[in-house]
Amino acid sequence: MQQTMVIIKPDAINRCLVGEVVKRFEQKGLQIKAMKMQALQPYALKEHYAHHKDKGFYGELIKYMSSIPSILMVLEGKDAISVVRKMVGSTQGREAAPGTIRGDYSVSNQSNIIHASENEKVAKAEIARLFKDEEIHDYKKMDFDWIYSRDEKYIEKAKR
Ligand code: CMP
Repeated sequence: MQQTMVIIKPDAINRCLVGEVVKRFEQKGLQIKAMKMQALQPYALKEHYAHHKDKGFYGELIKYMSSIPSILMVLEGKDAISVVRKMVGSTQGREAAPGTIRGDYSVSNQSNIIHASENEKVAKAEIARLFKDEEIHDYKKMDFDWIYSRDEKYIEKAKR
């Protein structure tokens, strides 16, 4: 199974959308492996968003993301990174497709509800930056056997 990191951003918290966002991931069948509220400090955000440092919106992005705490999650599932990115939708809220989280709840470029890791290398780096090993929980969820086929579970086990 693959892990990805999600940040439920300050705009979603101010707008009382945390439950709505978490509910979508749970209902899809993704497993919550870690979840916490954390005030993201500018130094951590500068590292997280280093690839945007030359963009005009960078300064505002750091201010917005450090304005109030965020909710951080590690989600696990088969192909979790692409599954979550599809559910999140494209970056700009006004462009994001209806049915996606940003498409349904955002009309902004900046205040777009959620961040999700873009690929496996980035997911590993983001999880390592923002979570301690002991904050990520290893447990079998009761509905696991109903979420994946025997083949999907078997192939995953064979890969280990
Ligand atoms: P995220 O997926 O966290 O990655 C970078 C963030 O920068 C993005 O979500 C938005 O919050 C923000 N962002 C991207 N494009 C713009 C933009 N054109 N203007 C302002 N903020 C932006």
